[in-house]
Amino acid sequence: MKHRKLGTAGPDVSLIGLGCMGMSGMYGPSERTESIATIHAALEAGITLLDTGDFYGMGHNEMLIGEALKALKGSRRDAALVSVKFGALRDPAGGWIGYDARPAAVKTFLAYSLQRLGLDHIDIYRPARLDPDVPIEDTVGAIADLVKAGHVRHVGLSEVGSETISRAAATHPVSDLQIEYSLISRGIEDSILPTCRALGIGITAYGVLSRGLISGHWQKGGSGSTDFRSHSPRFQEGNVDKNLALVEALRKIAAAKGATVAQIAIAWVAAQGEDIVPLVGARRRERLAEALGAPGVSLSAQDLAAIEQAVPKGAAAGERYAAAQMAHLDSEVGSHG
Ligand SMILES: NC(=O)c1ccc[n+]([C@@H]2O[C@H](COP(=O)([O-])OP(=O)(O)OC[C@H]3O[C@@H](n4cnc5c(N)ncnc54)[C@H](OP(=O)(O)O)[C@@H]3O)[C@@H](O)[C@H]2O)c1
Repeated sequence: MKHRKLGTAGPDVSLIGLGCMGMSGMYGPSERTESIATIHAALEAGITLLDTGDFYGMGHNEMLIGEALKALKGSRRDAALVSVKFGALRDPAGGWIGYDARPAAVKTFLAYSLQRLGLDHIDIYRPARLDPDVPIEDTVGAIADLVKAGHVRHVGLSEVGSETISRAAATHPVSDLQIEYSLISRGIEDSILPTCRALGIGITAYGVLSRGLISGHWQKGGSGSTDFRSHSPRFQEGNVDKNLALVEALRKIAAAKGATVAQIAIAWVAAQGEDIVPLVGARRRERLAEALGAPGVSLSAQDLAAIEQAVPKGAAAGERYAAAQMAHLDSEVGSHG
């Protein structure tokens, strides 16, 4: 597995990271033993970056990762870097009830995360969203205190726009911005990506398969009511058929390359720059194995042009989140990114 450096201030990580969110209910039920086996298989294959959020399954995801890491010994465990998002508030029924990124909350969240993960530090710690009531300098300043105290190694950001990125970076070095980026979510290219590049901040790209929509596997009717996709605009009637037509165009290119659609979609993100690390949301070993084939798919300028023609920028039907969630994205509303 090749490595990439996350920004000038960040760590070296595997070319692909494993996003563990789907193992804690976001895409419907998942199987605990298989989830842990998937994390182990990822580390065994040389993946070193595990991404989570303290609110994924209200702590479930961190405890799962903690259990997976505890069962390991030696170099694979030592190589694993854990990236944690905090700040999203949830009620006992799992409802989303806002954000809290006040300094005292940051320190409290971190203390609980360390317990759940069974770790003495977190490698990259980041607010999941901008808390509109708290200046980013205060939130990043609180994480900087945790860096000084040895509880956190690097400061990250998530779904924020250029102005917030610049203010955060002026407070403390930022390793990476985690943000949605895929063939059908290219909003970062206009302002956010150039800002990150100018400031030496890496990108951990999520949703590279657009939550499975452009994986080549997802079919209509495949999402239960507890699944994020059941209320995601791109999966709704009126949009989904247009989006699946893009997948079929991509499938032809994939077939000609002897690759799968998912591998082409992941490889495309990885090909957009040495500063970009795609996170893949595999929760089963079978899907992980497919994703692990992506770094072996090399895309020539001709391939990239064919992909662009099959899935032109802006081709997706529907926004990447429902309106209520879009309103929390500083990356969309804060800097027109
Ligand atoms: N910062 C943020 O705001 C934010 C938001 C969302 C996610 N994230 C992070 O990014 C990670 C990845 O994002 P994501 O889960 O939304 O994106 P994703 O990788 O675009 O989608 C994952 C979905 O694709 C399906 N899939 C089909 N083929 C696959 C393959 N070969 N490899 C991997 N998945 C395949 C999965 O399958 P099955 O359904 O068949 O298992 C899963 O449902 C998350 O786990 C989380 O850590 C961050």
